[in-house]
Amino acid sequence: MRPRWFTETAADHSESYAERFRALAAEGADLAGEARFVDALVPPGSAVLDAGCGTGRLAAELHARGHDAVGVDVDPVLLQVAAADHVGPAWIEADLATLALGREFDAVVSAGNVMVFLAPGSEDDVVRRLAEHLAPDGVLVLGFRTDRHVQVVDVEASARGASLVAEQRFSTWDLRPWQDDSDFVVMTFRRPKESG
Ligand SMILES: C[S@@+](CC[C@H](N)C(=O)[O-])C[C@H]1O[C@@H](n2cnc3c(N)ncnc32)[C@H](O)[C@@H]1O
Repeated sequence: MRPRWFTETAADHSESYAERFRALAAEGADLAGEARFVDALVPPGSAVLDAGCGTGRLAAELHARGHDAVGVDVDPVLLQVAAADHVGPAWIEADLATLALGREFDAVVSAGNVMVFLAPGSEDDVVRRLAEHLAPDGVLVLGFRTDRHVQVVDVEASARGASLVAEQRFSTWDLRPWQDDSDFVVMTFRRPKESG
């Protein structure tokens, strides 16, 4: 199965997506909300994986804030844009469902609806792979729309299955409280200190 990012979007979707984000950056739009959230969760100089990094805005902002940021994405068009627009983070082409970077991170973050653009049925594998890239006491952060394909309870079950502990749930990146009818969720999970 291929990610919905490829199968449920138009042929030139990656290019138009990248252009949209370049235009927003040129307008001075605030594209750093997710980075502020993650920055508040980890000590200075942390290793952070931006899982499904797209054009790299989040990893780039985390690098600018002094973190060792790595961006991974399955879309070569977006990764090319990330590498052209942002010096600093490492950019890696890989599928999150089979991710094996051989290192651990203090935080792993998937922002901008990555969870709803995965290949159907791969969500459990992706959460497990992301959990495997967390250092002990590391934090996983997932932000996604709740009205498309992926249910909060299912993601929580995947995280439990990956031995992660649910910690926080918000409805926005600026910490608005979660409501049962929220159409967006930001969730955090912790790898226990003493786990394997
Ligand atoms: C809406 S974009 C968000 C990009 C970025 N996180 C942001 O917020 O700007 C969704 C991203 O998920 C990526 N993606 C979807 N399935 C993936 C997979 N299995 N492995 C890696 N990346 C994936 C897509 O390639 C795309 O870059």
